[in-house]
Amino acid sequence: MRKPLVAGNWKMNGSSAGNKLLLNEILAAANSFPSVDVALFPPAVYLHQVQQALKDSNVAWGTQNVSSYHQGAYTGEISATMLHDFDCKYVLIGHSERRCLYAELELDQLVLDRIIAEKYNMAISEGLIPIICIGESPEEHAVGKTEEVIGRHLDILIEHQGVKSLSQAVLAYEPVWAIGTGRSATPEWAQDVHSFMRERVAKYDVETAQGLRILYGGSVKGNNAAPLFSKPDVDGGLIGGASLDANEFVKICQSAQKQVLG
Ligand code: 13P
Repeated sequence: MRKPLVAGNWKMNGSSAGNKLLLNEILAAANSFPSVDVALFPPAVYLHQVQQALKDSNVAWGTQNVSSYHQGAYTGEISATMLHDFDCKYVLIGHSERRCLYAELELDQLVLDRIIAEKYNMAISEGLIPIICIGESPEEHAVGKTEEVIGRHLDILIEHQGVKSLSQAVLAYEPVWAIGTGRSATPEWAQDVHSFMRERVAKYDVETAQGLRILYGGSVKGNNAAPLFSKPDVDGGLIGGASLDANEFVKICQSAQKQVLG
């Protein structure tokens, strides 16, 4: 069985005082989800605070983005080697908010695919675990293009990086129409897409596909996590808004824990 992963993407939220409370509350409950991998993704300016709070716990951390370059004149960027200074384990790559909001909209799709592939490569070569986010837009969803979009992203990634690299990575299905809308995909929809993703990877390598963790992200809350996690190809969640509320986030982690115990 694949070990579930629950990842909390704080996006551009938090403050030193607020983080302290949130971290303390999550830590206080951490022994209630011993069989689940849990990771938090604060804004990079809070990495030191998160590292200090979580260093002796079973909760890991990472960042919401990474540069595809090692160092140099890239104002505002953060390199993979810098993340090692903060003992980061994971990094999110290709989140739709980065794909859509930050210049990346202006880029040709092929250029964007290349940048994401380069970031992925950088993370793997630096020993970080990339969580690659992919999902269809509301427009693509409306015209039934989900599998076409997801399949294309996966093929590009695998053709650039080789399927075996996925044994050191995590995939996240994040349909853009479900992010921050309160309109989560149904467990059945998520299962169908996750199963499609796993089969697509299996076309290249069955063993890699079987071991690959595929997270679902998009309006996961304390009250809908359990049915999502009960699906065989949903290996945990990538949580946005609900990761800022300790009670909600802990409930989600506990739902994953119950799944492990059966
Ligand atoms: P919400 O959980 O707020 O919908 O966000 C999902 C997400 O984008 C996580 O990366």
